[in-house]
Amino acid sequence: MRTKNLAALLSLGVIIAVPALAQNDLLAQARQQFQPIPTTPPELPGNPATPAKVELGKMLYFDPRLSASHTISCSSCHNIGLGGADAEATSIGHRWQHGGRNSPTVFNAAFNTAQFWDGRAKDLEQQAGGPMVNPVEMASPAAHVAEQLKGIPGYRNVFEKAFPGESDPITLPNIQKAIAVFEATLITPNAPFDRFLKGDAKALSPTQEKGLALFMDKGCASCHNGINIGGGMYAPFGVVEKPGAELLPPDDKGRFMVTKTPSDEYVFKVPTLRNIALTAPYFHTGKAWDLRQAVAVMGASQLGIQLTGDEVDTITAFLGSLTGDQPKVTYPILPPSIATTPQPQP
Ligand code: HEC
Ligand code: HEC
Repeated sequence: MRTKNLAALLSLGVIIAVPALAQNDLLAQARQQFQPIPTTPPELPGNPATPAKVELGKMLYFDPRLSASHTISCSSCHNIGLGGADAEATSIGHRWQHGGRNSPTVFNAAFNTAQFWDGRAKDLEQQAGGPMVNPVEMASPAAHVAEQLKGIPGYRNVFEKAFPGESDPITLPNIQKAIAVFEATLITPNAPFDRFLKGDAKALSPTQEKGLALFMDKGCASCHNGINIGGGMYAPFGVVEKPGAELLPPDDKGRFMVTKTPSDEYVFKVPTLRNIALTAPYFHTGKAWDLRQAVAVMGASQLGIQLTGDEVDTITAFLGSLTGDQPKVTYPILPPSIATTPQPQP
């Protein structure tokens, strides 16, 4: 079984070897595979952050008038108080419709190499254009998004400050840019694991240290690595053993829908495990409510190993050390609608 699972991973090119781990090498070994979350927001290429742009992005993130019904904002499905996710199996959008996938956290999403479970958006800016116009999410026609905001006089000045020198700053691309720079501020530094990586020998409990060793030794870190402990590559869900249809329904072929390459069937972006203890339920289906269950499923499906109850608990304790400082966001005051503002289409 062990040989089979290594062979499977080697054929994927995801790991070179899984070395046995001496306890005193733990920090050195961890530093080779993971990096701490920085304490300042990352810069987005071609989209420099200014205080005015971040402030506008925050307003837009919370403004439900970006949706057709004026009831759904980015924050409905990516709640800042819920780890940047929504605690639903699959999100509820326009007219109470359920989308097909679980809402991933927006926290630290700037560090992912692509966005969405299937990586179909290359960055936050491109991603932000998706939900406003998605008929089961916010359901606002593309041309209407800017028209709606132009109908709210208080936004004019805020857009002018965020995009100085532009004669017509209220556009969908600028909306996407502003939301992206705000999202880049939603980082969660200072998790116990980050403090450990920076040399604080007491940051992890002894159980969490054991869990970290298991996480690396068993091969979890061959996919979940880097700053985000994930977010950096794609892998099939079911490398060794296909999980049941509840966790992996046949109709969602993941990255195949983007690339149409047969080898991409049931391939998904390896999700970040940052703040994972805060963002149940798990998997793209949101069908696993217990983090321990998700860990056990990963052992079997991705590595071909039956983790013992004790190993599952220990790894789960380590995952708890990935919860960082949650973003402190002051709720923005949004400019009011007036008599001529386009009205909601519920
Ligand atoms: C109705 C719920 C809903 C709304 C509203 C919504 N999202 Fe999402 N968001 C989701 C779901 C579900 C996914 C995953 C979809 C997929 O992978 O196909 C997602 C994915 C994302 C991702 C990718 C994260 C990752 O790790 O891949 C980002 C970033 C994001 N949304 C930001 C936003 C922003 C910004 C807005 C507002 C403009 C927004 N979302 C509105 C449900 C929602
Ligand atoms: C071959 C790559 C690979 C390996 C090895 C791997 N994972 Fe994963 N992991 C994934 C992918 C891909 C997903 C997304 C599955 C899906 O489609 O829902 C995932 C999802 C998860 C999730 C759910 C995340 C969420 O936001 O819903 C957890 C928790 C997790 N993995 C932990 C682990 C642990 C612990 C191990 C080791 C026992 C491990 N993984 C090994 C690729 C991998």
